Amino acid sequence: MNPSKRNRRLSLAILGLGVLLPAACSTESAPTANASARSTDPGPVVGEERAILTAPPMVPPPITRDHATKLIVDLEVREFVSEIADGVDYTFWTFGGSVPGSFIRTRVGDVVEFNLHNAPDSKMPHNIDLHAVTGPGGGAASSFTAPGHTSQFSFQVLNPGLYVYHCATAPVGMHIANGMYGLILVEPVGGLPPVDKEYYVMQGDFYTEGPYGEEGLQPFSMEKALTEIPDYVVFNGKVGALVGDDALSADVGETVRLFVGNGGPNLLSSFHVIGEIFDRVHQEGGSTANENVQTTLVPAGGATIAEFKVEVPGTFIMVDHSIFRAFNKGALGMLTVGGAEDTLVYSGKQDDRIYQPEGGAVQVMPGKGVAAAPATRTLEERLALGERAYQANCMACHQTNGQGIPSAFPPLAKSDYLMADKARSIQTVIKGLSGPIEVNGKAFDSVMPMLNLSDDDVANVLTYVRNSWGNQGDMVTVNEVQAARAAH
Ligand code: CU
Repeated sequence: MNPSKRNRRLSLAILGLGVLLPAACSTESAPTANASARSTDPGPVVGEERAILTAPPMVPPPITRDHATKLIVDLEVREFVSEIADGVDYTFWTFGGSVPGSFIRTRVGDVVEFNLHNAPDSKMPHNIDLHAVTGPGGGAASSFTAPGHTSQFSFQVLNPGLYVYHCATAPVGMHIANGMYGLILVEPVGGLPPVDKEYYVMQGDFYTEGPYGEEGLQPFSMEKALTEIPDYVVFNGKVGALVGDDALSADVGETVRLFVGNGGPNLLSSFHVIGEIFDRVHQEGGSTANENVQTTLVPAGGATIAEFKVEVPGTFIMVDHSIFRAFNKGALGMLTVGGAEDTLVYSGKQDDRIYQPEGGAVQVMPGKGVAAAPATRTLEERLALGERAYQANCMACHQTNGQGIPSAFPPLAKSDYLMADKARSIQTVIKGLSGPIEVNGKAFDSVMPMLNLSDDDVANVLTYVRNSWGNQGDMVTVNEVQAARAAH
C-alpha cells in the first residue's frame, strides 16, 4: 500500500478512536496523525507543467515544487542505426533517441499526461509499460502506437521510487533487446535529500549475429537471446559509453547519487563501483535504504538508487561484477574524481621490494632504474625469461599467441604499433597506456595498466614479444629500459 493510502487509513482509525476516548487523549493523538499526513500526503493536483526529459547519463533537476501537478510528457520513439561498439553498428529502437531512453522525473501525486509519439519513419509499432503506473499493462494497451501516430493516456504516480519503463509490443523481448527501456523517478513528498551530482546509468544485454567486436551492421539474434548468452553487456547503450572523455565526474568531498537501471532483457546486474562503498542503497528503487553496500543486485526490469561520498581522487570503475561481462562484453564505465589526495584514506603505493619467501630474506629494491638482476643476458636467456613474464603479466589480455581480442586488446603478433617504435614500446610497458591508438589499421581505446615490472623483466618480456609470432626485432636491454625511465 502506498504511504498516502496508509496514512489516510491511519488517520481514520485514530479519528475513530477519538470518538471513544476522553477528549484529552484525542487532542494528543490528532496532531501526530496530522503531522504524519503532512509528511507523505501528496495533496491536490495544482496547475500543469511540461516535463524536462534528459538523455543519459544526465538527470533532470530535482523537483522543487511543494505540490503535485499535471505533468505533460512528450516522448518520441525513434529507430536508427548507431554504434554498439567502435566499428560495430546495430539497429536501435529508442525512447527519445537514446539508450536507455529519456529520464522522466515526477513527484508523487502528479498526474502524468503521457504523449507517446512514434516517428513517421519507424518500421514497427511500439508502446510503453511504465512500472510507475498503477493500471493494466502499465499503460501498454493504451499506448500502442503505429508509425506516424501519437497515443495519449494519463496516470497518477501513487508510489514514490525509481521505476523502469519499457516497450511491451510483441515480440516484447526483441523490443527490449533493441534498447527500448529507461527510468522514471517518482520523488516522495519533500523530495530526495540534496546531493552534489546525480547520474543516470542503465545496463542492457545485446544479442548480435556476429560475435563481440565483429565489425559492420550486426542484426539481432533471436537464437542467442533465447539462450540468454549475450555478445554485449553495456551501460548506456554502447561499449565505452562512460569511459574516457565520457566518464562521469565528481570532485573530492562531493556526494554522488546514481540512478541505476537494468533493462535486461535477460541478465541480472551485480552493480559495483571499484574502490567505492555505497553509503546508502535504495534496493530495487524502493523506500528502504540499506547502508554500507559493496555490490547491489539490480534485477532485469528493476532499478536501484546508490549514493556515496567521494573521499579521494582517481578513476573509479563501474562494473557488473559478473566480471567477464565487464572486461569482455562492455559492462564497464568510469567515474573520474578530481581534487586533493587524502593519503590517510588511501596512500597510493608506498614501497616496492623484492619478495623472496623461499630465501627468508626480503630484499629492498633500491629504486627505479636499478636492476636487481644481471644487466647483461644472452638473447636466449631473455627469450626464456620473457616468455614466463609474458604468461604471468600479459597473456590474459593479449592472448596466448599475441593475437589480442578484437576491439578490446590490441594484437602484439605482427603488430605495426609494437614494432615501429622500440622506445615507445618500452614506455608502454613501464608506464601503461590509455586512450585511442591504431594497431594494424584497427582502432583501440582501452587501458593497459602499469605493471611495475623490474627493468630486467621489461627487457625480457619485450625481447620475447618482439621476437615471437612473426615479429622480428633486436634484443631490448636493461640499459635501454633505464634510459626510458630516465627520459620519463
Ligand atoms: Cu517497441
